[in-house]
Amino acid sequence: MDTPKEIFLKDYKLPDYYFDTVDLKFLLGEEKTIVYSKITVFPRVEGACSPLDLDGKDLKLVSIKVNMEELKKEDYQLGLHRLTLLSPPSGTFTLEIVTEIYPQKNTSLEGLYKSSGNFCTQCEAEGFRKITFYQDRPDIMAKYTCRIEANKTLYPVLLSNGNLIEQGDIEGGGHYALWEDPFKKPCYLFALVAGQLESRDDKFITRSGRTVSLKIWTPAQDLPKTVHAMYSLKAAMKWDEDVFGLEYDLDLFNIVAVPDFKMGAMENKSLNLFNSKLVLASPETASDADYAAILGVIGHEYFHNWTGNRVTCRDWFQLSLKEGLTVFRDQEFSSDMGSRTVKRIADVSVLRNYQFPQDGGPMAHPVRPHSYIKVGYHFLSLRILPLKWTTSTPLTMTGGNMWMVNSSYSVYHGAEVVRMYKTLLGSQGFRKGMDLYFKRHDGQAVTCEDFFAAMRDANDADFANFLLWYSQAGTPLVKVTSSYNAEAQTYSLKFSQEVPTTPGQPVKEPMFIPVALGLLDSNGKDIPLTSVYHEGMLQSVASNGQPKEEEFVFSGITERPFPSLLRVYSAPIRLESDLTESDLFFLLAHDSDEFNRWEAGQILARKLMLSLVADFQTNKPLVLNPKFVHGLKSILSDSSLDKEFIAKAITLPGVGEIMDMMEVADPDAVHAVRSFIRKQLASELKKEFLSTVKSNRSSEQYVFNHPNMARRALKNIALAYLASLDDPEFTELALHEYKSTTNMTEQFSALAAIDQNPGKNRDDVLADFYSNWEHDFLVYSLIGGFCGSPVNFHAKDGSGYKFLGEMVVQLDKLNPQVASRMVSAFSRWRRYDETRQSLAKVTKSCHHFRDGRPQAQLEMIMSTNGLSENVFEIASKSLA
Ligand code: PHE
Ligand code: ZN
Repeated sequence: MDTPKEIFLKDYKLPDYYFDTVDLKFLLGEEKTIVYSKITVFPRVEGACSPLDLDGKDLKLVSIKVNMEELKKEDYQLGLHRLTLLSPPSGTFTLEIVTEIYPQKNTSLEGLYKSSGNFCTQCEAEGFRKITFYQDRPDIMAKYTCRIEANKTLYPVLLSNGNLIEQGDIEGGGHYALWEDPFKKPCYLFALVAGQLESRDDKFITRSGRTVSLKIWTPAQDLPKTVHAMYSLKAAMKWDEDVFGLEYDLDLFNIVAVPDFKMGAMENKSLNLFNSKLVLASPETASDADYAAILGVIGHEYFHNWTGNRVTCRDWFQLSLKEGLTVFRDQEFSSDMGSRTVKRIADVSVLRNYQFPQDGGPMAHPVRPHSYIKVGYHFLSLRILPLKWTTSTPLTMTGGNMWMVNSSYSVYHGAEVVRMYKTLLGSQGFRKGMDLYFKRHDGQAVTCEDFFAAMRDANDADFANFLLWYSQAGTPLVKVTSSYNAEAQTYSLKFSQEVPTTPGQPVKEPMFIPVALGLLDSNGKDIPLTSVYHEGMLQSVASNGQPKEEEFVFSGITERPFPSLLRVYSAPIRLESDLTESDLFFLLAHDSDEFNRWEAGQILARKLMLSLVADFQTNKPLVLNPKFVHGLKSILSDSSLDKEFIAKAITLPGVGEIMDMMEVADPDAVHAVRSFIRKQLASELKKEFLSTVKSNRSSEQYVFNHPNMARRALKNIALAYLASLDDPEFTELALHEYKSTTNMTEQFSALAAIDQNPGKNRDDVLADFYSNWEHDFLVYSLIGGFCGSPVNFHAKDGSGYKFLGEMVVQLDKLNPQVASRMVSAFSRWRRYDETRQSLAKVTKSCHHFRDGRPQAQLEMIMSTNGLSENVFEIASKSLA
């Protein structure tokens, strides 16, 4: 085992040699694969003659030639992960290397490996070195050709990057294909696929009239499930032309769905590889959320063609340059295809639920880290932080978690930074910046500063110390206080900010924070603001060298206004304001910014729930504030609002969210309170909910588009409210919905609605659902869902914990990565009461031994023989 090695951003050095062309040849075999690589090498500085280091891992070197001549033993050095040419020729030369690799034995899902009998590759971040010796770093960009030879019966389809320029048969049952990629690329974008696949074919005509052939490859039986993926691809191609003027640059675009894939998907040039789950969908088996996830990820990978591939990263510290920007682009794409506000709400929720907690903990790190740790040339995090992806987590979390101190969530922070450029510059200014970025850097490997400079220069903008967003970790806390002076007719907002200390960064500088805001008059209308505040935006809260506190005074304000702060969530910060409850009710009813309408409703709901929880715990009767009912009613009956937005806005914060705000989490109390509020709302808004269900039924076949999705979302939540009443009329209604629908979105929602009430109906429907889908559903997605349901998972008798503990041990034998993800459900045991703590974690007394086995599940897991490293790591960290 190699010792961990810390790598620093500041240590970046230009390579001594560049590669111009790379010609690869693969002889794919069952026992071994032989890789021929012919590279034209040239020194960065003519005549420098320094040694040339090549990366290589798990490779058998067969031969090495320089300018056609076999190298002598003394001319090179072969280390465990390195091949060094000691004195290469002084000018341009050709380097020919032959290696042998064993894809059939490669279980790392990196480099060349086999997935269900097919060959495929994964090279980001450092997988290419498992294919051949190479300078495996993204600033080496070269033009590739790739010739693949394989048995024709076993591997009828042979794919690589670029255009297919030749194919034919070879004696003895073989065949070959020759691919040429005319664009320079880093080796992490190389891809090869060979196997038994069939394609759904379509075409896209670009705006300049080029016909692009589109192919989505899967095993034959899955082809019917690729309709939506193809639709998504064409939508993404069109969108990138319309919004960014970016056209696809080759005549062919391939997508391959692979069942064994490390991450969500990978943007290899013209040959995107996907985890099957993010390609395949049918109305009967996939929900609207699954459809939306596919749309987003297909878009994401496609958008990388410009942001990532044509312009790539200089080094892996710049990961956010491509991921932050491309996540931002896919968020925008999904927003334009659906509801902008709802998408923003979903993205902000991810930021708050995953990124902010990380920023506040020992793993905090900036968007661009200063250093990271590699062990044995693996990115360690790929092991300790397995991909956090389920169909219910947002689409863009496709991976990219390469930092030891980090997980994939950091890409969210990067996307927020990109979003702030757009917020500050406006759509047109942002577009100008993007245009300049491509004009300057097409075909280059660049840094986050280059992106910043393009945005700044294209707009003559003064961004002050905006770059701190890349280097400073932690979530800034902004506090706002307001005061109104009736005599002077002025309204003042005083902002102060604080960036919490994070490991390695004890002292922070004030940041440049764009705060979009509006002031509402007593009719709920926006008061026009003076031009100083461009489109209602305070461009900074405090900038470099200025005090941490700033006051903004608005004049000519004739009555005390209602402030709507941080509209559309214009910066990734925590905001504390002196808004009162009645301010919040007012914003909920009137704010022209839908995001803040939702936000106000959620803040109110959280307050309400917490105070009812206190009542519940002290046996006081529960009473629901009529203003809250009224607020939600006004949203529900506002026909000018988007239906999906309404569905979001009338959804109460989850049990987990409320438990997180409590000193000692009390799942029973929170659950009781949440059910109480739901029932109360349902009985008071019965009429409205019932007409909502009736007027939003599906009249036709399942269609994935925004109006239909929004309609289903609203119908489903109304149905859930009604069913919570456990009234035969509504149970009948839910049963009817369950039986009459053919799509998963509505069927599953009806099932969940019925599931609220124990009894025969529930048992029957669950049994029916199970028998329909027992073969289609991955069992662990059910277990994962179960642990997200606080009441049963946290059952006081420990049965939920016991169930999970046993599942983890069983599953660990099959799939340690998934098992370790499940153990993490135990990791928050400290948040619960003592009984639950001891059930989840430690054995305090023999009371917890039954049948001679410890009932404390984390300890039980830890004491299991043959536990995987993955599970061990998470379980031991949770106990520590
Ligand atoms: N670059 C991939 C994406 O954006 C994510 C990924 C990273 C996949 C590393 C594999 C390995 O979708
Ligand atoms: Zn990406």
